[in-house]
Amino acid sequence: ANILVLNGPNLNMLGKREPEHYGRQTLSGIIEELETLADEYEVRLHHFQSNAEHELVERVQEALDEKIDFILINPAAFTHTSVALRDAMATVKIPFIEIHLSNIHKREDFRQHSFFSDLAEGVIAGLGPIGYQLALAAAVEKLK
Ligand code: DQA
Repeated sequence: ANILVLNGPNLNMLGKREPEHYGRQTLSGIIEELETLADEYEVRLHHFQSNAEHELVERVQEALDEKIDFILINPAAFTHTSVALRDAMATVKIPFIEIHLSNIHKREDFRQHSFFSDLAEGVIAGLGPIGYQLALAAAVEKLK
């Protein structure tokens, strides 16, 4: 199976970025661990991070031709703002899990609404980097 991991704006700064919310692990560290797990599960991981909304929209559109079976997405700030990225997810109809490192529900009011959660198979928030691993485990289970 092919699994696409998408990370939105500022997640390239993980490690340096507000560690009280996002911890100290870098994005490449998270992806490396996920690759190891993907090998164990015998699935193929594809990863894309962008700070640009249109690049994420285009990556989602491409996923259709690429035969991506499942998407793990941390839309980051676009969670709360992007109708365009939501529409892309709805267009390709590829099942996905929404991930947040921090627990958005105990943060600011503007983080309480997600444009993705009502389309997602599931949502993981507040568990830090391990959230990505739990999401991969759940994706593999759902693809069986
Ligand atoms: C985030 C939470 C968002 O509110 C924030 O804008 C991010 C990261 C998280 O992983 O906790 O950039 O998605």
